[in-house]
Amino acid sequence: MTALSKPEKTETAETSENMIDFPQNIFFEEPDGSLLDYDRQFGANHYERLNTVIRRTEGAWLYTADGRKILDCLAAYSSANAGHHNPKIVQAVIDALGEKRGSVISNVVYTSALSLFLKKLSEFVPPLGPRFPQDGNKTLPKNGGVESVETALKLARYHGYKEKNISDGKQEIIVFDGNFHGRTICVVSFSSTKKYSEGFGPLTPGFVTAPYGDVEAARGLVNANTCGILVEPMQGEGGMNIPPLGFLAGLRQIADEHNLILIFDEIQVGMGRTGKDFCFQHENVVPDAVILGKAISGGLLPLSALVTNAHLMDLVFTPGRDGSTYGGNPLACAAGIAALDNHVADRLSERSAETGAKLKSRLEKIASRSKVVKEVRGMGLFIGIEVKDGDAMKYCRKLLDMDLLANDSYGHTIRISPPLIINESEVDYICERLEKVLVG
Ligand SMILES: Cc1ncc(COP(=O)(O)O)c(C=O)c1O
Repeated sequence: MTALSKPEKTETAETSENMIDFPQNIFFEEPDGSLLDYDRQFGANHYERLNTVIRRTEGAWLYTADGRKILDCLAAYSSANAGHHNPKIVQAVIDALGEKRGSVISNVVYTSALSLFLKKLSEFVPPLGPRFPQDGNKTLPKNGGVESVETALKLARYHGYKEKNISDGKQEIIVFDGNFHGRTICVVSFSSTKKYSEGFGPLTPGFVTAPYGDVEAARGLVNANTCGILVEPMQGEGGMNIPPLGFLAGLRQIADEHNLILIFDEIQVGMGRTGKDFCFQHENVVPDAVILGKAISGGLLPLSALVTNAHLMDLVFTPGRDGSTYGGNPLACAAGIAALDNHVADRLSERSAETGAKLKSRLEKIASRSKVVKEVRGMGLFIGIEVKDGDAMKYCRKLLDMDLLANDSYGHTIRISPPLIINESEVDYICERLEKVLVG
């Protein structure tokens, strides 16, 4: 047998003669004015942005080029739960890059980062799928949250096809009014916000909608083709809505009675945001599948996941049935592993519960003195302040002038969802500003 040739010694970046002369820092300083012009000229106009350019972030704070320091009460829609540039998560990413373990690798081989992340996340989530064999959870990673929502929809539909004998193409999934699960065509097809889907047809069929919080209405939608229920245990984008107690348990019961896959979208409300690791733990109800994103990689890299019962995962996702080039890439997984470790070590869920309870009770006092507040509602550090005139952004703009970033949920509610690490003086900072804006 002829010996195989040895790989040639490769040229390193330092020895290459064709090195490109990059600027030292790719974020080379430009006046903020021209950056806004670049965005307007070269970017899609799909966000209505506030006129502020953030250059740097740390902990709960955002820094502008002109020296402003702004408290972040949005935390990138719960991505920055652990605080911006959390040192432990940053270090894990730096180490992965420094050790040359960060680059994306073809999914035809294994990587230690992915394997470790799968184990950590599958074990972190409580055992799912109570009526299926209990062989633990399994995880399927993707990048953005909506990709994992789509993966979960595949799970429910295939279960219906394979285990309930529903004809392929006839499967139906129950969803809820005011839902927000992302922006792909399939997912906006069942959004109750017309703007999200108008003109993007043909839309994806197979979804029926019940009022959020109404178990009996959901039950009334079940028929022989129903294969699943997709719900947010608390609605974030839909107006910071907490469902009535018993809603999630009622859905669990329907799912068990009719052999449906109960999917909880915890992309925004999971990972400690509402004061528990998972929002569904407030009602002690376990779903068959949970969708996670945002905070699971510490706000540094795109990473999302579908976690479900091992039996269901193995039933649906055999080789070739799903995939993603960057899904579960080593750098994102390094961040994910560190973010999960940090979540536990920093007691983020407990801190969210403690700080959130204090903040909410102070906000309720402010609301009682305010003529403009309709209601304060929330759990943990996920608090909505609904305003009577329905124009929450008007108040958010004033808050930004006072160096506090918040935005609206569903137009009528100011969303207060800072990083879970905020301290008492930062709580004071939030309350002082809200007092000014809402009371005067
Ligand atoms: C509950 C929920 N589901 C899904 C998504 C979509 O996630 P992504 O924007 O990462 O696709 C979001 C985003 O805000 C969300 O809040």
